Amino acid sequence: MTNHNTLVFSGSSHRQLAEDVARDLGTQLGKMDIQTFPDGEIGVHICENVRGRDLFVIQSIARHPNLYLMELLIIVDALKRASAGSITAVLPYFGYARQDRKDKGRVPITAKLVANMLETAGVDRVVTMDLHASQVQGFFDIPVDNLFARPLMVEAASRLLENPVVVTPDVGSIRLANIMAHALDTEFAIVDKRRIDAKNIESGALIGSVKDRDVLLVDDIVSTGSTLRAASLVCKENGAKRVFAAVTHGLLLGDIFSESAIERLLITDTVSLPPDINRDKVEVISSAPLFAKAIESIGDNSSISSLFK
Ligand code: R5P
Repeated sequence: MTNHNTLVFSGSSHRQLAEDVARDLGTQLGKMDIQTFPDGEIGVHICENVRGRDLFVIQSIARHPNLYLMELLIIVDALKRASAGSITAVLPYFGYARQDRKDKGRVPITAKLVANMLETAGVDRVVTMDLHASQVQGFFDIPVDNLFARPLMVEAASRLLENPVVVTPDVGSIRLANIMAHALDTEFAIVDKRRIDAKNIESGALIGSVKDRDVLLVDDIVSTGSTLRAASLVCKENGAKRVFAAVTHGLLLGDIFSESAIERLLITDTVSLPPDINRDKVEVISSAPLFAKAIESIGDNSSISSLFK
């Protein structure tokens, strides 16, 4: 790291990723104590001088989103009150982003609420990856750098697939599928998905052809896995040879390989992965180099647009 004014801290949600980022930057994580009081409240003590420094706090709002969001806000408050020069929240996974509009009456827009909370706490800039909807950047009045995992995915997929076709498991990922298909020099197809409720979906028609092709299902998030499982079966029914999936954020609350046609999953480490994950079928792609590059460039005031391709 060339800028010695930069200091990186880790929240508790994904210490391994923060350590990987620090290692790639050739630095150590900043010293901070996080404790839980007997009543469950969080206390934070910054154990070194941060006055005037450019600080980065790495925290994924996943696994226990309410806990880790609150912890992040408290860390930011402590840093601001310790006279930080600037504070960047590095959110490898931006939780609560899926509720980004009122699609029916009397529901919240949690993505905007989280944006307001981060700004109020004292965050000056946000770095994240594969936001569920890019427009969430506009919910902030501070800079938001939204990095993309797809160059990493394209590189890994090129090694695995023969005669590929990219498939989006719902209309929400059409843009991603289009870009991935372009990068893999192929076409894309669409599975029609209807969400019944938070846990159940129904997948029906396939728009496009997958016959005798290796399918790459692409999505930003795998949560219960219902979306990918259903789409993989639709692809198989339509004659796909093999089915792979490439997803940025692995909440992985269900087993995506049971009752599914997926042979292999490419996933980044923006969220800490379950310890019992089937490593024979899952290829974990490190996001740390991209976050390290972004932090280095922001620290140097140099362009990071090469990371947005
Ligand atoms: C939805 O719009 C997202 O892009 C994912 O498709 C969704 O979050 C996946 O959820 P699940 O794995 O529970 O089907």
